[in-house]
Amino acid sequence: MADATDLLDAGERLGPDELRALQLERLRASLRHAYEHVPFYRESFDKAGVRPEDCRSLADLARFPFTTKADLRANYPYGMFAVPRERIRRLHASSGTTGRPTVVGYTDNDLAMWSDMVARSIRAAGGRPGDVVHVAYGYGLFTGGLGAHYGAERLGCTVIPASGGMTARQVQLIQDLEPSVIMMTPSYMLTLLDEFERQGVDPRATSLRVGVFGAEPWTEQMRQEIEERFAIDAVDIYGLSEVIGPGVAQECAETKDGLHVWEDHFYPEIVDPVTGEVLPEGERGELVFTSLTKEAMPVVRYRTRDLTRLLPGTARAFRRMEKITGRSDDMVILRGVNLFPTQIEEIVLRTPGVAPHFQLRLTREGRLDTLTVRAEARPDAPSEVREAAARAIVAAVKDGIGVSVGVEIVEPESLERSVGKIRRIVDLRPRDAGGPGEC
Ligand code: DLL
Repeated sequence: MADATDLLDAGERLGPDELRALQLERLRASLRHAYEHVPFYRESFDKAGVRPEDCRSLADLARFPFTTKADLRANYPYGMFAVPRERIRRLHASSGTTGRPTVVGYTDNDLAMWSDMVARSIRAAGGRPGDVVHVAYGYGLFTGGLGAHYGAERLGCTVIPASGGMTARQVQLIQDLEPSVIMMTPSYMLTLLDEFERQGVDPRATSLRVGVFGAEPWTEQMRQEIEERFAIDAVDIYGLSEVIGPGVAQECAETKDGLHVWEDHFYPEIVDPVTGEVLPEGERGELVFTSLTKEAMPVVRYRTRDLTRLLPGTARAFRRMEKITGRSDDMVILRGVNLFPTQIEEIVLRTPGVAPHFQLRLTREGRLDTLTVRAEARPDAPSEVREAAARAIVAAVKDGIGVSVGVEIVEPESLERSVGKIRRIVDLRPRDAGGPGEC
Protein backbone atom coordinates (compact mmCIF):
# COMPACT_ATOMS: atom_id res chain seq x y z
CA MET A 1 0.00 0.00 0.00
CA ALA A 2 1.15 3.54 -0.72
CA ASP A 3 2.69 5.37 2.21
CA ALA A 4 0.88 8.66 2.97
CA THR A 5 3.90 10.68 1.82
CA ASP A 6 3.71 9.05 -1.63
CA LEU A 7 0.45 10.91 -2.06
CA LEU A 8 1.87 14.39 -1.50
CA ASP A 9 1.77 16.72 -4.50
CA ALA A 10 4.77 18.71 -5.72
CA GLY A 11 3.91 21.79 -3.62
CA GLU A 12 3.69 19.74 -0.43
CA ARG A 13 7.14 18.29 -1.03
CA LEU A 14 8.97 21.63 -1.19
CA GLY A 15 11.68 22.17 1.39
CA PRO A 16 11.55 25.37 3.49
CA ASP A 17 14.08 27.28 1.37
CA GLU A 18 12.46 26.26 -1.89
CA LEU A 19 9.08 27.27 -0.49
CA ARG A 20 10.26 30.74 0.58
CA ALA A 21 11.91 31.30 -2.82
CA LEU A 22 8.75 30.24 -4.64
CA GLN A 23 6.59 32.44 -2.42
CA LEU A 24 8.74 35.48 -3.05
CA GLU A 25 8.75 34.95 -6.79
CA ARG A 26 4.97 34.47 -6.84
CA LEU A 27 4.37 37.36 -4.46
CA ARG A 28 6.29 39.79 -6.63
CA ALA A 29 4.41 38.64 -9.73
CA SER A 30 1.07 38.86 -7.96
CA LEU A 31 1.72 42.39 -6.66
CA ARG A 32 2.70 43.44 -10.16
CA HIS A 33 -0.42 41.82 -11.63
CA ALA A 34 -2.66 43.62 -9.10
CA TYR A 35 -0.93 46.97 -9.58
CA GLU A 36 -1.01 46.83 -13.36
CA HIS A 37 -4.57 45.59 -13.81
CA VAL A 38 -6.70 46.76 -10.88
CA PRO A 39 -7.13 50.55 -10.52
CA PHE A 40 -7.96 50.09 -6.83
CA TYR A 41 -4.54 48.55 -6.13
CA ARG A 42 -2.72 51.11 -8.25
CA GLU A 43 -4.30 53.90 -6.22
CA SER A 44 -3.80 52.26 -2.86
CA PHE A 45 -0.13 51.37 -3.55
CA ASP A 46 0.53 54.86 -4.92
CA LYS A 47 -1.08 56.42 -1.88
CA ALA A 48 1.11 54.31 0.41
CA GLY A 49 4.17 55.21 -1.71
CA VAL A 50 5.06 51.61 -2.61
CA ARG A 51 5.65 49.89 -5.92
CA PRO A 52 5.53 46.13 -6.59
CA GLU A 53 9.31 46.15 -7.16
CA ASP A 54 9.81 47.41 -3.58
CA CYS A 55 8.96 43.89 -2.43
CA ARG A 56 12.42 42.32 -2.29
CA SER A 57 11.80 39.92 0.59
CA LEU A 58 8.71 38.34 2.11
CA ALA A 59 9.01 40.75 5.05
CA ASP A 60 8.63 43.69 2.63
CA LEU A 61 5.00 42.74 2.17
CA ALA A 62 4.34 44.57 5.46
CA ARG A 63 4.96 47.85 3.59
CA PHE A 64 1.92 47.30 1.39
CA PRO A 65 -1.54 48.55 2.31
CA PHE A 66 -4.33 46.29 3.55
CA THR A 67 -7.46 45.42 1.60
CA THR A 68 -10.77 45.17 3.46
CA LYS A 69 -14.27 43.90 2.83
CA ALA A 70 -15.34 47.57 2.52
CA ASP A 71 -12.89 47.97 -0.41
CA LEU A 72 -14.46 44.97 -2.14
CA ARG A 73 -17.94 46.36 -1.55
CA ALA A 74 -16.94 49.79 -2.86
CA ASN A 75 -15.77 48.14 -6.08
CA TYR A 76 -18.87 45.96 -6.49
CA PRO A 77 -19.44 44.09 -8.70
CA TYR A 78 -16.46 43.79 -11.09
CA GLY A 79 -14.07 46.52 -9.97
CA MET A 80 -11.53 44.20 -8.30
CA PHE A 81 -11.05 41.99 -11.36
CA ALA A 82 -7.65 41.96 -12.99
CA VAL A 83 -8.69 40.28 -16.24
CA PRO A 84 -11.31 41.14 -18.88
CA ARG A 85 -14.78 39.84 -17.97
CA GLU A 86 -14.65 37.36 -20.86
CA ARG A 87 -11.86 35.47 -19.11
CA ILE A 88 -13.93 35.06 -15.93
CA ARG A 89 -15.35 31.56 -16.03
CA ARG A 90 -17.26 31.56 -12.71
CA LEU A 91 -18.66 34.02 -10.18
CA HIS A 92 -19.45 33.41 -6.53
CA ALA A 93 -20.72 35.87 -3.95
CA SER A 94 -20.70 36.22 -0.20
CA SER A 95 -23.97 36.03 1.66
CA GLY A 96 -24.13 39.81 2.16
CA THR A 97 -26.10 39.74 5.40
CA THR A 98 -24.92 43.28 6.02
CA GLY A 99 -25.03 45.62 3.04
CA ARG A 100 -24.06 44.72 -0.52
CA PRO A 101 -22.70 41.26 -1.23
CA THR A 102 -19.17 40.90 -2.49
CA VAL A 103 -18.62 39.19 -5.80
CA VAL A 104 -15.57 37.07 -6.53
CA GLY A 105 -14.41 35.74 -9.91
CA TYR A 106 -12.27 32.88 -11.22
CA THR A 107 -10.43 32.26 -14.49
CA ASP A 108 -9.95 28.72 -15.82
CA ASN A 109 -6.55 28.60 -14.11
CA ASP A 110 -8.03 29.85 -10.83
CA LEU A 111 -10.67 27.11 -10.92
CA ALA A 112 -7.98 24.49 -11.61
CA MET A 113 -5.81 25.75 -8.74
CA TRP A 114 -8.84 25.84 -6.41
CA SER A 115 -9.74 22.24 -7.29
CA ASP A 116 -6.13 21.21 -6.66
CA MET A 117 -6.18 22.85 -3.24
CA VAL A 118 -9.47 21.22 -2.24
CA ALA A 119 -8.22 17.86 -3.55
CA ARG A 120 -5.09 18.34 -1.42
CA SER A 121 -7.32 19.22 1.54
CA ILE A 122 -9.53 16.14 1.20
CA ARG A 123 -6.44 13.96 0.92
CA ALA A 124 -4.94 15.55 4.05
CA ALA A 125 -8.26 14.83 5.79
CA GLY A 126 -7.88 11.14 4.95
CA GLY A 127 -9.87 10.92 1.70
CA ARG A 128 -8.37 8.93 -1.17
CA PRO A 129 -9.00 8.54 -4.91
CA GLY A 130 -11.92 6.13 -5.29
CA ASP A 131 -13.75 7.33 -2.18
CA VAL A 132 -17.41 8.31 -2.40
CA VAL A 133 -17.75 11.90 -1.12
CA HIS A 134 -21.07 13.27 0.10
CA VAL A 135 -21.09 17.07 -0.28
CA ALA A 136 -23.73 18.75 1.90
CA TYR A 137 -22.32 22.27 1.79
CA GLY A 138 -24.78 24.52 -0.03
CA TYR A 139 -24.41 24.67 -3.81
CA GLY A 140 -24.88 28.08 -5.40
CA LEU A 141 -23.26 31.45 -4.88
CA PHE A 142 -21.71 30.14 -1.63
CA THR A 143 -18.30 28.62 -2.41
CA GLY A 144 -18.75 25.58 -0.14
CA GLY A 145 -20.72 23.24 -2.39
CA LEU A 146 -19.06 23.75 -5.75
CA GLY A 147 -15.63 24.17 -4.18
CA ALA A 148 -15.85 20.83 -2.38
CA HIS A 149 -17.43 19.21 -5.43
CA TYR A 150 -14.71 19.99 -7.94
CA GLY A 151 -11.97 19.26 -5.42
CA ALA A 152 -13.37 15.82 -4.73
CA GLU A 153 -13.68 15.12 -8.46
CA ARG A 154 -10.13 16.33 -8.94
CA LEU A 155 -8.90 13.86 -6.33
CA GLY A 156 -10.60 11.07 -8.26
CA CYS A 157 -13.56 10.52 -5.98
CA THR A 158 -17.21 9.81 -6.75
CA VAL A 159 -19.22 12.86 -5.70
CA ILE A 160 -22.76 12.97 -4.31
CA PRO A 161 -23.82 16.62 -4.82
CA ALA A 162 -26.42 16.59 -2.04
CA SER A 163 -26.17 20.32 -1.15
CA GLY A 164 -27.71 21.54 2.14
CA GLY A 165 -31.27 20.88 3.34
CA MET A 166 -33.79 18.07 2.92
CA THR A 167 -32.14 16.39 5.87
CA ALA A 168 -34.31 13.27 5.87
CA ARG A 169 -33.17 12.56 2.33
CA GLN A 170 -29.52 13.04 3.31
CA VAL A 171 -29.84 10.12 5.74
CA GLN A 172 -31.33 7.97 2.98
CA LEU A 173 -28.55 8.89 0.53
CA ILE A 174 -25.87 8.06 3.09
CA GLN A 175 -27.41 4.67 3.75
CA ASP A 176 -27.96 3.81 0.10
CA LEU A 177 -24.89 5.28 -1.63
CA GLU A 178 -22.42 4.49 1.18
CA PRO A 179 -20.09 7.50 1.09
CA SER A 180 -16.88 7.27 3.11
CA VAL A 181 -16.27 11.05 3.27
CA ILE A 182 -18.78 13.77 4.21
CA MET A 183 -18.29 17.52 3.77
CA MET A 184 -20.63 20.01 5.46
CA THR A 185 -20.72 22.57 8.25
CA PRO A 186 -20.25 21.05 11.72
CA SER A 187 -23.54 22.58 12.89
CA TYR A 188 -25.39 20.91 10.02
CA MET A 189 -23.74 17.61 10.97
CA LEU A 190 -25.49 17.92 14.34
CA THR A 191 -28.82 18.47 12.56
CA LEU A 192 -28.09 15.31 10.60
CA LEU A 193 -27.41 13.49 13.85
CA ASP A 194 -30.90 14.38 15.13
CA GLU A 195 -32.37 13.05 11.89
CA PHE A 196 -30.50 9.74 12.17
CA GLU A 197 -31.91 9.38 15.66
CA ARG A 198 -35.42 10.37 14.58
CA GLN A 199 -35.34 7.70 11.89
CA GLY A 200 -33.95 5.13 14.33
CA VAL A 201 -30.78 4.67 12.26
CA ASP A 202 -27.50 4.13 14.15
CA PRO A 203 -25.17 6.98 13.09
CA ARG A 204 -22.13 4.93 14.16
CA ALA A 205 -23.02 2.14 11.77
CA THR A 206 -22.76 4.11 8.48
CA SER A 207 -20.06 3.80 5.81
CA LEU A 208 -18.71 7.26 6.80
CA ARG A 209 -15.08 7.35 7.86
CA VAL A 210 -14.03 11.00 7.51
CA GLY A 211 -15.83 14.33 7.97
CA VAL A 212 -14.37 17.55 6.51
CA PHE A 213 -16.06 20.33 8.43
CA GLY A 214 -15.70 24.09 8.11
CA ALA A 215 -17.22 27.42 7.07
CA GLU A 216 -17.85 28.33 10.72
CA PRO A 217 -15.92 28.18 13.99
CA TRP A 218 -16.14 24.94 15.98
CA THR A 219 -14.33 23.61 19.01
CA GLU A 220 -12.43 20.53 20.18
CA GLN A 221 -15.51 19.66 22.26
CA MET A 222 -17.61 19.68 19.08
CA ARG A 223 -15.02 17.47 17.37
CA GLN A 224 -15.27 14.94 20.21
CA GLU A 225 -19.06 14.97 20.09
CA ILE A 226 -19.17 14.39 16.31
CA GLU A 227 -16.40 11.77 16.34
CA GLU A 228 -18.05 9.78 19.10
CA ARG A 229 -21.59 9.99 17.81
CA PHE A 230 -20.68 9.07 14.21
CA ALA A 231 -17.52 7.00 14.75
CA ILE A 232 -15.58 9.07 12.20
CA ASP A 233 -12.48 11.28 12.04
CA ALA A 234 -13.60 14.92 12.07
CA VAL A 235 -11.16 17.46 10.63
CA ASP A 236 -11.26 21.18 10.01
CA ILE A 237 -11.25 22.91 6.60
CA TYR A 238 -10.89 26.67 6.32
CA GLY A 239 -11.35 29.19 3.57
CA LEU A 240 -13.09 32.36 2.50
CA SER A 241 -14.57 33.42 -0.80
CA GLU A 242 -12.42 36.53 -1.13
CA VAL A 243 -9.28 34.38 -1.04
CA ILE A 244 -10.69 31.44 -3.07
CA GLY A 245 -13.31 29.50 -1.03
CA PRO A 246 -12.76 26.30 0.97
CA GLY A 247 -9.25 24.84 0.72
CA VAL A 248 -7.08 27.72 1.98
CA ALA A 249 -6.00 25.67 5.01
CA GLN A 250 -6.71 22.15 6.19
CA GLU A 251 -6.17 20.00 9.21
CA CYS A 252 -4.36 16.70 8.65
CA ALA A 253 -6.11 13.54 9.89
CA GLU A 254 -2.91 12.10 11.35
CA THR A 255 -2.25 15.00 13.72
CA LYS A 256 -5.48 17.04 14.11
CA ASP A 257 -3.37 19.85 15.51
CA GLY A 258 -4.51 22.93 13.64
CA LEU A 259 -4.76 23.70 9.93
CA HIS A 260 -1.87 23.69 7.50
CA VAL A 261 -2.06 26.81 5.37
CA TRP A 262 -1.55 25.99 1.69
CA GLU A 263 1.00 28.76 1.61
CA ASP A 264 2.41 27.98 -1.80
CA HIS A 265 -0.77 29.76 -3.02
CA PHE A 266 -2.03 31.84 -0.07
CA TYR A 267 0.47 33.80 1.98
CA PRO A 268 -0.61 34.32 5.60
CA GLU A 269 0.28 37.05 8.08
CA ILE A 270 -1.01 37.71 11.58
CA VAL A 271 -1.50 41.37 12.45
CA ASP A 272 -2.57 43.28 15.50
CA PRO A 273 -6.26 43.93 14.75
CA VAL A 274 -6.02 47.48 16.10
CA THR A 275 -2.63 48.78 14.95
CA GLY A 276 -2.19 46.55 11.88
CA GLU A 277 1.37 45.76 12.95
CA VAL A 278 2.65 42.32 11.84
CA LEU A 279 2.96 39.97 14.81
CA PRO A 280 5.62 37.29 15.19
CA GLU A 281 4.84 33.58 14.74
CA GLY A 282 2.94 32.20 17.74
CA GLU A 283 1.14 35.42 18.66
CA ARG A 284 -2.61 35.70 18.31
CA GLY A 285 -4.15 38.31 16.07
CA GLU A 286 -6.07 38.83 12.85
CA LEU A 287 -5.33 36.60 9.91
CA VAL A 288 -4.41 38.42 6.68
CA PHE A 289 -3.98 36.76 3.28
CA THR A 290 -2.22 37.66 0.06
CA SER A 291 -2.96 35.47 -2.94
CA LEU A 292 0.16 34.29 -4.76
CA THR A 293 -1.23 32.79 -7.96
CA LYS A 294 -4.74 34.11 -8.51
CA GLU A 295 -5.48 35.67 -11.88
CA ALA A 296 -9.05 36.96 -11.84
CA MET A 297 -9.08 38.58 -8.44
CA PRO A 298 -5.71 38.88 -6.74
CA VAL A 299 -5.99 39.97 -3.11
CA VAL A 300 -3.24 41.87 -1.34
CA ARG A 301 -3.14 41.73 2.46
CA TYR A 302 -6.84 40.95 2.79
CA ARG A 303 -8.09 41.42 6.36
CA THR A 304 -10.13 38.29 7.15
CA ARG A 305 -11.24 39.43 10.65
CA ASP A 306 -10.61 35.83 11.73
CA LEU A 307 -8.58 35.51 14.90
CA THR A 308 -5.89 32.86 15.25
CA ARG A 309 -2.11 32.42 15.38
CA LEU A 310 0.52 30.82 13.15
CA LEU A 311 2.54 27.84 14.29
CA PRO A 312 5.32 25.78 12.69
CA GLY A 313 4.42 22.87 10.42
CA THR A 314 4.04 19.29 11.66
CA ALA A 315 2.39 16.78 9.31
CA ARG A 316 3.32 19.11 6.42
CA ALA A 317 6.14 21.61 5.99
CA PHE A 318 3.62 24.45 5.61
CA ARG A 319 2.85 26.57 8.67
CA ARG A 320 -0.26 25.81 10.64
CA MET A 321 -2.94 28.15 11.91
CA GLU A 322 -4.61 27.32 15.18
CA LYS A 323 -8.31 26.46 15.00
CA ILE A 324 -10.15 29.78 14.67
CA THR A 325 -11.54 31.02 17.96
CA GLY A 326 -13.86 33.49 16.28
CA ARG A 327 -14.23 36.50 14.05
CA SER A 328 -13.74 39.97 15.42
CA ASP A 329 -17.32 40.63 14.14
CA ASP A 330 -18.73 37.87 16.36
CA MET A 331 -17.03 39.10 19.47
CA VAL A 332 -19.48 40.28 22.10
CA ILE A 333 -18.19 42.91 24.50
CA LEU A 334 -20.24 42.49 27.62
CA ARG A 335 -19.54 44.93 30.40
CA GLY A 336 -15.97 45.28 29.21
CA VAL A 337 -15.34 41.54 28.82
CA ASN A 338 -14.71 40.04 25.37
CA LEU A 339 -16.64 36.87 24.67
CA PHE A 340 -16.77 34.56 21.66
CA PRO A 341 -19.52 32.03 20.90
CA THR A 342 -16.86 29.27 20.77
CA GLN A 343 -16.09 29.85 24.47
CA ILE A 344 -19.73 29.16 25.27
CA GLU A 345 -19.70 26.14 22.95
CA GLU A 346 -16.85 24.61 24.96
CA ILE A 347 -18.80 25.05 28.18
CA VAL A 348 -22.19 23.87 26.87
CA LEU A 349 -20.72 20.77 25.27
CA ARG A 350 -19.05 19.60 28.44
CA THR A 351 -22.13 20.15 30.62
CA PRO A 352 -24.07 16.94 31.41
CA GLY A 353 -27.77 16.95 30.54
CA VAL A 354 -27.61 19.50 27.69
CA ALA A 355 -27.54 18.80 23.96
CA PRO A 356 -24.93 20.46 21.70
CA HIS A 357 -27.51 23.04 20.55
CA PHE A 358 -27.36 26.56 21.92
CA GLN A 359 -28.02 30.17 21.07
CA LEU A 360 -26.83 33.45 22.54
CA ARG A 361 -29.49 36.07 23.05
CA LEU A 362 -28.45 39.69 23.60
CA THR A 363 -31.01 42.01 25.19
CA ARG A 364 -30.93 45.37 26.90
CA GLU A 365 -32.57 46.04 30.22
CA GLY A 366 -32.43 49.72 31.08
CA ARG A 367 -28.87 50.68 30.19
CA LEU A 368 -27.47 47.25 30.81
CA ASP A 369 -26.79 44.64 28.13
CA THR A 370 -27.59 41.09 29.07
CA LEU A 371 -26.53 37.84 27.47
CA THR A 372 -28.66 34.76 27.88
CA VAL A 373 -27.32 31.37 26.90
CA ARG A 374 -30.22 29.25 25.68
CA ALA A 375 -29.21 25.60 25.62
CA GLU A 376 -31.35 22.60 24.82
CA ALA A 377 -31.91 19.85 27.36
CA ARG A 378 -31.07 16.29 26.32
CA PRO A 379 -34.39 14.43 25.95
CA ASP A 380 -33.53 12.04 28.79
CA ALA A 381 -32.48 14.76 31.26
CA PRO A 382 -34.82 15.06 34.27
CA SER A 383 -35.61 18.48 35.72
CA GLU A 384 -33.02 18.33 38.50
CA VAL A 385 -30.29 17.60 35.92
CA ARG A 386 -31.51 20.54 33.82
CA GLU A 387 -31.40 22.85 36.82
CA ALA A 388 -27.93 21.66 37.74
CA ALA A 389 -26.84 22.23 34.12
CA ALA A 390 -28.07 25.83 34.21
CA ARG A 391 -26.16 26.48 37.43
CA ALA A 392 -23.03 24.79 36.04
CA ILE A 393 -23.07 26.94 32.88
CA VAL A 394 -23.54 30.18 34.86
CA ALA A 395 -20.61 29.22 37.10
CA ALA A 396 -18.34 28.10 34.26
CA VAL A 397 -18.92 31.34 32.32
CA LYS A 398 -18.31 33.42 35.42
CA ASP A 399 -15.13 31.52 36.35
CA GLY A 400 -13.76 30.95 32.86
CA ILE A 401 -14.71 34.15 31.04
CA GLY A 402 -15.31 36.48 33.96
CA VAL A 403 -18.78 37.75 33.23
CA SER A 404 -22.31 37.02 34.48
CA VAL A 405 -24.80 35.63 32.00
CA GLY A 406 -28.31 34.23 32.23
CA VAL A 407 -28.93 30.62 31.26
CA GLU A 408 -32.18 29.09 30.05
CA ILE A 409 -32.38 25.36 29.51
CA VAL A 410 -35.01 24.97 26.82
CA GLU A 411 -36.98 21.92 25.66
CA PRO A 412 -35.35 19.38 23.31
CA GLU A 413 -35.81 20.24 19.62
CA SER A 414 -36.91 23.80 20.37
CA LEU A 415 -33.96 25.76 18.95
CA GLU A 416 -33.71 26.38 15.23
CA ARG A 417 -31.48 23.87 13.44
CA SER A 418 -28.72 24.79 11.04
CA VAL A 419 -28.60 23.62 7.43
CA GLY A 420 -25.48 25.65 6.65
CA LYS A 421 -23.59 28.28 8.60
CA ILE A 422 -25.17 28.61 12.01
CA ARG A 423 -26.08 31.99 13.51
CA ARG A 424 -25.25 31.79 17.20
CA ILE A 425 -26.00 35.35 18.26
CA VAL A 426 -29.53 36.73 18.28
CA ASP A 427 -29.25 40.43 18.94
CA LEU A 428 -32.53 41.78 20.31
CA ARG A 429 -31.17 45.09 21.53
CA PRO A 430 -32.74 48.31 20.27
CA ARG A 431 -31.23 49.40 16.96
CA ASP A 432 -29.49 52.47 18.35
CA ALA A 433 -27.47 50.21 20.68
CA GLY A 434 -24.68 50.00 18.13
CA GLY A 435 -23.88 47.17 15.74
CA PRO A 436 -23.83 43.53 16.77
CA GLY A 437 -20.91 42.83 19.01
CA GLU A 438 -20.73 46.30 20.53
CA CYS A 439 -22.42 46.45 23.88
O1 DLL B 1 -17.17 29.72 4.33
C1 DLL B 1 -15.73 28.95 2.56
C2 DLL B 1 -15.79 27.59 3.11
C3 DLL B 1 -16.73 26.70 2.66
C4 DLL B 1 -14.85 27.16 4.05
C5 DLL B 1 -16.77 25.41 3.15
C6 DLL B 1 -14.85 25.87 4.52
C7 DLL B 1 -15.83 25.01 4.08
P1 DLL B 1 -17.26 32.51 3.19
O2 DLL B 1 -18.73 32.25 3.09
O3 DLL B 1 -16.68 33.61 2.41
O4 DLL B 1 -16.46 31.23 2.76
O5 DLL B 1 -16.95 32.70 4.74
C8 DLL B 1 -15.64 32.84 5.17
O6 DLL B 1 -16.17 31.77 7.28
O7 DLL B 1 -13.67 34.28 7.12
C9 DLL B 1 -14.41 32.52 8.64
O8 DLL B 1 -14.92 33.55 9.44
C10 DLL B 1 -15.47 31.46 8.47
N1 DLL B 1 -14.83 30.13 8.35
C11 DLL B 1 -14.61 29.42 7.23
N2 DLL B 1 -14.02 28.23 7.54
C12 DLL B 1 -13.86 28.23 8.89
C13 DLL B 1 -13.31 27.30 9.82
C14 DLL B 1 -16.54 29.98 3.33
N3 DLL B 1 -12.82 26.13 9.46
C15 DLL B 1 -15.61 32.94 6.68
N4 DLL B 1 -13.28 27.68 11.13
C16 DLL B 1 -14.21 32.99 7.21
C17 DLL B 1 -13.78 28.86 11.52
C18 DLL B 1 -14.36 29.44 9.39
N5 DLL B 1 -14.31 29.75 10.71
